[in-house]
Amino acid sequence: MKPKITPNNNERKLGDTDFIVSKTDPNGRITYANRIFMDICGYPETQLLNVQHNIIRHPDMPLCVFKFLWDTLKSNEEFFGFVKNLCADGGYYWVFANITPDYDKHGKLHGYYSVRRKPPQSAIDVLTPVYRQMLAIERDSSTTEGPQKSFEYLLDVINQTGAKDYNSLVLSLYKP
Ligand SMILES: Cc1cc2nc3c(=O)[nH]c(=O)nc-3n(C[C@H](O)[C@H](O)[C@H](O)COP(=O)(O)O)c2cc1C
Repeated sequence: MKPKITPNNNERKLGDTDFIVSKTDPNGRITYANRIFMDICGYPETQLLNVQHNIIRHPDMPLCVFKFLWDTLKSNEEFFGFVKNLCADGGYYWVFANITPDYDKHGKLHGYYSVRRKPPQSAIDVLTPVYRQMLAIERDSSTTEGPQKSFEYLLDVINQTGAKDYNSLVLSLYKP
């Protein structure tokens, strides 16, 4: 069961050369976690394996980002994004995440594979108010309409920055 954690403002940062790796089964249950992942989120391997990846979901993250993440993976495409994650002690850490579908040698979906690196502070500064606004839109709408409306807001932001699409914006924030 997902632990009930009260978020606090203690931030942890990945080192410049650190990378977090995890793998999941096709349903998003964790099947592998590397040492840095366990160290930063504060859960031992026993509490991560076979558990849904939303164990580290932070309440500051808009629903729509995860909907987009799963829609992207289900279309056999890779996802890039900036994600704020919740630690076992209520702290948080930001990552730049890449998630890809993982196929076995017969072409059958084996699960998903994610690698995260330290995001530039400039990207977090841009996205924090955007995610806050998306969350507010989701809170003010019904569960079915919320993610769609907040995604429309994100598309507006993408248009205003002149980026071609979501991936162009995200990749340009990673490498300004
Ligand atoms: C390989 C993989 C890695 C993921 N990594 C994260 C992550 O670091 N943080 C997170 O909140 N969700 C992550 N997710 C998405 C979660 O499965 C989940 O959709 C998300 O936490 C939202 O929770 P919810 O689906 O219960 O709303 C990942 C999913 C996959 C397949």
